[in-house]
Amino acid sequence: MEQKINDIIKRFEESVAKAQTRGEVAAAAASATGPNGELTALMKTLKTLPPEQKPAAGKLINWAKQKIEPLILEAYSRIENAEMAKSLGEEFDPSLPTVDVPRGTVHPLTRTIRLVCDIFKRIGFTVAEAGDLETEWFCFDALNTPSDHPARDAQDTLFLPSGAKSGNISKHSDERYLLRSHTSSVQIRAMLKEGAPIKIVAPGRAFRRDTVDATHSANFHQIECLCVDRDVKLTDLKAVLDYLFRSLFGKSAKSRLRPSFFPFTEPSFEVDFMSDNMGRLSGKWIEIMGCGMVDPKVLENVGLEGYTGYAFGLGVERVAMLTHSIDDIRHFYANDTRFLKQFSK
Ligand code: DAH
Repeated sequence: MEQKINDIIKRFEESVAKAQTRGEVAAAAASATGPNGELTALMKTLKTLPPEQKPAAGKLINWAKQKIEPLILEAYSRIENAEMAKSLGEEFDPSLPTVDVPRGTVHPLTRTIRLVCDIFKRIGFTVAEAGDLETEWFCFDALNTPSDHPARDAQDTLFLPSGAKSGNISKHSDERYLLRSHTSSVQIRAMLKEGAPIKIVAPGRAFRRDTVDATHSANFHQIECLCVDRDVKLTDLKAVLDYLFRSLFGKSAKSRLRPSFFPFTEPSFEVDFMSDNMGRLSGKWIEIMGCGMVDPKVLENVGLEGYTGYAFGLGVERVAMLTHSIDDIRHFYANDTRFLKQFSK
């Protein structure tokens, strides 16, 4: 038996070594381990052996199979490499390292949006999104900013030629379309869609007629936050702000509110924060965003009279610049991978 098996292996080794095509490898393999192969035939003779010889003979046959299998795989990959070398028309060394394809990284603004959204998801907020194209009603009127309101000047943006429409995005679709000047319009969309209670953060792009410099861009990003329920108070807003700043800028972070004005909040505030973690800005009040209690007129516009709520709008670029000590907003849009790569983990 042992002699027979050694002969089979030898014959197999000779024929597989000569094989030049996949078909020849398959034929060599079949002649040993295929249904009509020599090892299979030997297996069938096992039952004619005396019982005490069967286990040892079975073991030998299995050993032979295990010896043959890697040789088959080796032969296939030898042929594959030869084919590849032929198709490349040159010596091909499959052991060489692959060409270094540069890997992309997550953009620092996307990273900041994800970071802030995750912070809010932990306290029960969901993420809401809407398109960059808005009607005047969503962007201004519903937010208590009628067409003659001076606050519209500060948020001048690109208007689409009248008559331009992109599907019927609202019941106010006969109005002019514009590139939204802030993400506050998502407050209106979300409240009309979901009613109250509601707790959302809405990240997205915003557009303004702005002269580009180190801190201004005509296209930037904001994260809107809105919480509307029964009995939401200013102290709830303050607590959420402190939680946000501690999450972003470390345990020592604290915030203060300064009276301000926004048409859609009453009272309205500018928010400053301070932290020991801010390098040369440590211990200094840093102005970061606007906030307030949702104006009752806004709640009335979406049929939520009797509820109260807070809202704020956070500039994504501002947060990213503060967390990474970036001194010029234009870096974010220049697509210089030497800059962008610094934020990959
Ligand atoms: N939408 C304002 C802006 O872009 C920012 C803002 C201020 C949003 C106060 C709010 C808020 O939700 O309550 O200038």
